[in-house]
Amino acid sequence: MQIATTITQFLADEQSGQPHGNPDLLALLGQVVTACKIISNEVNKGALSGVMGSLESENIQGETQKKLDVITNDIFICTTERGGRLAGMASEEMDDVYQIPDHYSRGQYLLVFDPLDGSSNVDVNISVGTIFSVLRYEGSSAHPSAADFLQPGTQQVAAGYALYGSSTMLVITTGRGVNGFTLDTNIGEFVLTHADMAIPTDTKEFAINASNQRFWEEPVLRYVTECVAGKTGPRGRDFNMRWVASMVAEVHRILIRGGIFMYPKDNKDPTKAGKLRLMYEANPMSFIVEQAGGLSSTGRQRILDVQPEGLHQRVPVILGSKNEVEVVLSYHAGQ
Ligand code: AHG
Ligand code: MN
Ligand code: MN
Repeated sequence: MQIATTITQFLADEQSGQPHGNPDLLALLGQVVTACKIISNEVNKGALSGVMGSLESENIQGETQKKLDVITNDIFICTTERGGRLAGMASEEMDDVYQIPDHYSRGQYLLVFDPLDGSSNVDVNISVGTIFSVLRYEGSSAHPSAADFLQPGTQQVAAGYALYGSSTMLVITTGRGVNGFTLDTNIGEFVLTHADMAIPTDTKEFAINASNQRFWEEPVLRYVTECVAGKTGPRGRDFNMRWVASMVAEVHRILIRGGIFMYPKDNKDPTKAGKLRLMYEANPMSFIVEQAGGLSSTGRQRILDVQPEGLHQRVPVILGSKNEVEVVLSYHAGQ
């Protein structure tokens, strides 16, 4: 009889016998998986739950919070804080580090997350997601500070995302490749459906918010202009374009069929280096993309090598199929 491989079983097998295999990490990831299942359930209820729409509040980036931004943030906290594996958390929806309450035991990991990515899509029933990143806590104080979180992406011990699309999927890496699981709602388990995900090296599909075109830097403008020129332009082939406005959905598409995704540096607001946040969007996604054979860069530097300077720091992001990202990087290098 063929029994499906659940994510719990898969991660246990992956961790066992590994030099860095760690039951504490396994337990923490189990709690994260549970949080994603609860969020999936909430998101799937849609308007029936009465939590569509926005709040009066703004998060630290000055964005109006959706009701579901706050609810999903609470779900993530409540599901993981009591598991005894965390020293602290940070999220898009919290200004500062979240400290584990004293009545719970603490552990050796830091959890950073975007509880609801693409939340502008939630009212219109387009895919949203959750992104998470796990770091080691190296400090000795009972209460980690923001500085303890500011580790480059190369230090991540695990990263993943849940995609609440036409099916719910969870895609994860612990640094040994990327694997995708689909939620079987009949048994309430994520089941391995996409083993060893690999991004095709070449692509004819690009994703960028073209309404920002007038703010782009020269290398990105050149690249997109050449894609749009198609067969008769310098690239000699036609390209297609997609923009979902949910990074999770864009990265997932790229993992499945290739592509390049850009939220580049632009001069729209000189105080912002880009739109996407390093700690809970760019870093976890870059870890996944690299583990699947793709590239991820600011245009000038590998994202995983960026030394973070703030919990909510923004970075330019150019990621996806290796050969296509290399074209954009060569333009940044002036070639
Ligand atoms: P969030 O909903 O967590 O704030 O993230 C939205 C991000 C990302 O998912 C997406 O790629 C991008 O913002 C879309 O930005 P535009 O609305 O500028 O297209
Ligand atoms: Mn996001
Ligand atoms: Mn978000």
